[in-house]
Amino acid sequence: MGGFFWTNGLFFAYITIIMEAQEIRKRFLTYFKNHGHAIVPSSSLIPDDPSVLLTTAGMQQFKPYYLPAGRHGTGKADAMKDFGSLNTVSVQKSFRTSDIEEVGDERHLTFFEMLGNFSFGGYFKKEAITYAHEFLTKELGLEISYVTIFEGKESIGVPKDEESRSIWQSLGVADIREEGMGDVFWGPTGSGGPCGPTTEIYCKNGAGQDIEVWNIVFNEFLFPGSREELNSGSSGKQLEKLLTPGVDTGMGFERLTMVIQKTQTIFETDLFYSLLQLLPNNLDTIKRRVFADHARAITFLITDGVRPSNKEAGYILRRLMRRSMAYEKTDNLPEHILQTVVDEIICIYGDFYPELQVQATTIKDTVAGEREKFSKTLEHGIRETYKFSEINASTAFNLYQSFGISLDVIKDVAGEKAKNVTNEAFEAELKKHQEISRAGQTAKFGGHGLILDTGELKAGTKEEVKIVTRLHTATHLLQAALRKVLGTEVHQMGSDITPERTRFDFSFSRKVTPDELKQVEEIVNEAIQSDYVVEAKKMPYEEAIKTNALYFFKEKYPKEVNVYSVFDPNTHEVFSREFCGGPHVTHTGEIGVFKILKEESSSAGVRRIRAIVTL
Ligand code: SER
Repeated sequence: MGGFFWTNGLFFAYITIIMEAQEIRKRFLTYFKNHGHAIVPSSSLIPDDPSVLLTTAGMQQFKPYYLPAGRHGTGKADAMKDFGSLNTVSVQKSFRTSDIEEVGDERHLTFFEMLGNFSFGGYFKKEAITYAHEFLTKELGLEISYVTIFEGKESIGVPKDEESRSIWQSLGVADIREEGMGDVFWGPTGSGGPCGPTTEIYCKNGAGQDIEVWNIVFNEFLFPGSREELNSGSSGKQLEKLLTPGVDTGMGFERLTMVIQKTQTIFETDLFYSLLQLLPNNLDTIKRRVFADHARAITFLITDGVRPSNKEAGYILRRLMRRSMAYEKTDNLPEHILQTVVDEIICIYGDFYPELQVQATTIKDTVAGEREKFSKTLEHGIRETYKFSEINASTAFNLYQSFGISLDVIKDVAGEKAKNVTNEAFEAELKKHQEISRAGQTAKFGGHGLILDTGELKAGTKEEVKIVTRLHTATHLLQAALRKVLGTEVHQMGSDITPERTRFDFSFSRKVTPDELKQVEEIVNEAIQSDYVVEAKKMPYEEAIKTNALYFFKEKYPKEVNVYSVFDPNTHEVFSREFCGGPHVTHTGEIGVFKILKEESSSAGVRRIRAIVTL
């Protein structure tokens, strides 16, 4: 960027060097590394915490490090052991469904990156604020417009944050504003966890607007319930003081880039520039932004193992994909423009997130697969939508059911006529429908004379119950072994056990090689020969998720869950731990010999293994 101006009759030309987004990431990581932080890679968009649909913040992967002993399996997660430092820094892939409706304005996105530094007992307010101040003003040369601090809330026993105020004052920041729970109190996420007051930093963008760029959270407390329970105060649950208070900070990368590059919206930064260039000039501005946002989200969600479906994260992905694909039709975009934009995203983000390159084919196949499913009904659905003079939640749901067009598409097409349909009303219809079909499922299996039918396990006689029970424990060993050999990308996507075999579906991006299958088989058989103990523990869901047990992320779990552990009785080392309803053998030695029969593709990014056990 550059320009020229006249002064005192002299002509000056100047060139300002714009800091590229890539460089900003680098500077952030380097600054904190130089200040004693361990660089930790972004965790997946699919979080380990099953009470949260998608990763919404950098702190999520670090939740266990804030918790006191006893709240996380056998003891406090040890940052020193895991990272070699009590302080970490990351650039985290994040996704906020709460912002879907806002996408298209100057600064809201679904998928975004979050820069964050974290401390688990290493430092607290003084250092956290001083680092943020130095990084913004010295490293990046930005000016801080103002900061906020927590005004205090008596009913939850948290006083005004005077300490942060005086730290800011000592750094020369004069404009300090007080805000309440809604703005400057973070967490807890999901069904409970660390939380505390925050202080936020605002800087100006190119349009002179004050933009919140950095949120610094002081995790002083633990709340054993949800954010809603904390806000309402009616659950009877209390904030507990954490013995070692922690720091969690989050800086929206796209917003920071807008502030540094002095653009008026995030879409004019170099993070979006080349994507928008690919879209026709005459496409409506909002739609251009939505398209670019959704294409990024689609690329990153698929890479982390989400597949389009009618439930949970899969449903969100489907919504984003179908809205983008509908634009291709309603606005006559070049065919397959979505794939072209996705390719560009892989190109510009692939250096920092190499997993995008690894998954490029899977992304392409998943987009193509969804397009094929949707294209059959899309045009028909759009025509039908035009026919209505008014659309309510139930009409919208029927359109979705019949033609697969999501609410956003209906709203885009119907405009004013659908303006009263809220997301909540639409989702209530969706839920009603899912409950009806679940009831139908149970009835269907009812009359089949099965004496065991857990949905996953089916057996008609007592003998068969014994076989499927052995196969079931073997399936847990299989998942653990797959993760040991192929990595934690492996997650259960489905499982079906009959007396003949177990069939296990899991997320993985490529074919498993014969060598790897052999290793997996050997690890399972070693676990069987070691005759490990299989033990079930019933515990509240909140406790269970802290034990690091694996869970089937598509499932909704009850308040009390069973966690099955397979462990070495001598060393107590855990081989496998999963949320599970059973039944299982009591010792792995009962299983017999485990053999993998076949490995194949089940759907895009999902592999399927069939295996048997013999005595
Ligand atoms: N967890 C806080 C946020 O997401 C700070 O990282 O804003």
